[in-house]
Amino acid sequence: MPGYPVLPDGLAYGGDYNPEQWPEEVWQEDVRLMREAGVNLVTVGVFNWGLIEPAEDVYDFDRLDRILDLLHTEGIMVDLATPTSSPPVWFRNRYPGSRLVDREGRVLGGATRHSFCPSSPDYAAASERVAVRLAERYSGHPALAMWHVHNEYGWANAHCYCATSAEAFRAWLRERYGDIGAVNAAWGTTFWGLTYGSFDEIEPPVHAPVGLLTGLQLDFMRFSVDAHVANFRRERAAVRRFSDLPVTTNFMIPNCKPMDYWRWSAEVDVVANDHYLDAEGPDAHIDLAMAADLTRSVAGGRPWMLMEHSTGAVNWQPRNLAKRRGEMRRNSLAHVARGSDSVMFFQWRASRHGAEKFHSAMVPHAGTDSEVWRDVVDLGTDLGRLAPVRGSRVEADVAVVWDWESYWALELEWRPSADLRFRERVGAFYAALWREHVTVDFVHPSADLSAYRLVVAPSAYLLTEASAKNLHRYVEAGGHLLVSFFSGIVDENDTIHAGPYPGVLREVLGLSVEEFHPLREHGTVTVAPATGIGGSVGRIWSERVRVGEAMPVWTFADGPDAGHPAVTRHDLGAGAAWYVATALDETHGATDGTHGVAHDTARGSASRDPYGLRGLLREVLDHAGVRRLAGVPEDVEVVRRGAHLFLINHADQPATVPGVTGTGLLDGVEHRGSATVPPGGVAVVRT
Ligand code: GAL
Repeated sequence: MPGYPVLPDGLAYGGDYNPEQWPEEVWQEDVRLMREAGVNLVTVGVFNWGLIEPAEDVYDFDRLDRILDLLHTEGIMVDLATPTSSPPVWFRNRYPGSRLVDREGRVLGGATRHSFCPSSPDYAAASERVAVRLAERYSGHPALAMWHVHNEYGWANAHCYCATSAEAFRAWLRERYGDIGAVNAAWGTTFWGLTYGSFDEIEPPVHAPVGLLTGLQLDFMRFSVDAHVANFRRERAAVRRFSDLPVTTNFMIPNCKPMDYWRWSAEVDVVANDHYLDAEGPDAHIDLAMAADLTRSVAGGRPWMLMEHSTGAVNWQPRNLAKRRGEMRRNSLAHVARGSDSVMFFQWRASRHGAEKFHSAMVPHAGTDSEVWRDVVDLGTDLGRLAPVRGSRVEADVAVVWDWESYWALELEWRPSADLRFRERVGAFYAALWREHVTVDFVHPSADLSAYRLVVAPSAYLLTEASAKNLHRYVEAGGHLLVSFFSGIVDENDTIHAGPYPGVLREVLGLSVEEFHPLREHGTVTVAPATGIGGSVGRIWSERVRVGEAMPVWTFADGPDAGHPAVTRHDLGAGAAWYVATALDETHGATDGTHGVAHDTARGSASRDPYGLRGLLREVLDHAGVRRLAGVPEDVEVVRRGAHLFLINHADQPATVPGVTGTGLLDGVEHRGSATVPPGGVAVVRT
């Protein structure tokens, strides 16, 4: 991999630096403050296209020269961006054919960034040219550490429906299918008699009166990812003509549904991610952990870079909550715990103009006499102390299946229940595992699974035959698999696998499903153990499971499938495959073998009374032999990264974690047998 790690030592600390918004006197103060805070890397030039190429093929690098030179003088390294996510005004006017068109056929406005068609040949030519000029000029600059191509591919212009895109889509289909008969077969066009006579007849999935061919929609999504990847590759090649420094682009995992980041991961030298908290979400820190674990997984387990997050509020949520005391530090160190070798922010200094002026920054509008600034300086000190963590890896015994294609397919229109959402389902399993203090990797269902004791597949709706075989082999070889309802239903064309549901998973699960019985909005069913303890409330879904080789573990106690299995286990080869046929509440106190007694799902009771999904997971984790640290308080996040144990206390009380011996990297404290972490605090212990 060219040049990883990007800095000579330690973790990278900094953010997007957009000094072109300020007079030069401010730059002097900027670099002085950067040094005060321990900033060592800044991303420069992200939105500079119209400034460095003010007219077509006319360049002005003066200001950028001065910025890079100044940063170099102060010993601050540069992550130099190609500015192509924000085409200049002249470009849009000169090349109207490059404008972005939405699904309704509207040409979208231009007084913003990202407003261009990803398949436009004019955009391709112009973006390549500016990337070449930039790389030619700065590849030898001593401040340069890495390249940041574009910004957040596909965030606002993932899909374009203009005539150029339609033509490119048809070319893409020709390449994929070869002949039109194969397209008709894949999309099942005989239904509604929609058979195509030639590729030229195919339209993108534009707004239509009723449901469109679903295979067409999936292929259009795949095509659109390829269009963005092609743009990235073109610019990467431009940069590589002059430079062998690492090249990346900032992903938005998992908040950019249209981008299949498994497809993207091999394209970059180091995976970089932008993550913004869902500030109002009650479990924002768990969402953050999930994003970080997914990013590490996309990076193939290698260290990755947190390229953007925020010191406080963002500007684009319905209510932009500021971070609470200590939250920015916990967020930052949680990313590091889960494999990031950097903590970077959008942006260095808060903007005075435009759309993002209420977005927090490292230097807020309040200036340096502020809590935010003092926290920024303290974080620099923390990160300096965490230098030994760099490059180390996070190991996980448990993997969760995540497939963007299945995400897309599950959420197309006309599914059995509008309440079934991919992120919610994966998030529910992830949160329950987080509370059990289990670190997980995410995997594509076709990946090598042999490193994991347990693989969890929540509503893996789209599953190819090859992936299903992979899961089968994994179980036979001794793996443990937990699958939830509405998995293994369709192939890559959204065609139902033959035979009773769940087509390609029937054998590994040892069961079939006769009929789905989705519940009414807010409806619930109760499930009770076939023997022993357990039980829960189920939501969203019930279905008629018929066991073959599998044995029932829990049973539906009421609802449309009363008396039929709700949770099953199939011992197969050296492993076992579990199945759960409803959306279990995380906790539910049916402790005595009866059902529907205590509906207390409060955190406090959860740890005493962890049935529901958590109870099931405990059972499965034990069965699979997944080891966890015992006695860890509920709200403490525990992650091992190499020789270091990160303990992040999300509660308002001090938390004592037993079984910890070693030296605290942040505070030098010696822990002998246990570590106490202050309320909202973080300990990183070298064990
Ligand atoms: C990111 C983007 C930044 C900034 C930030 C605000 O998605 O890359 O340029 O807009 O959001 O949260």
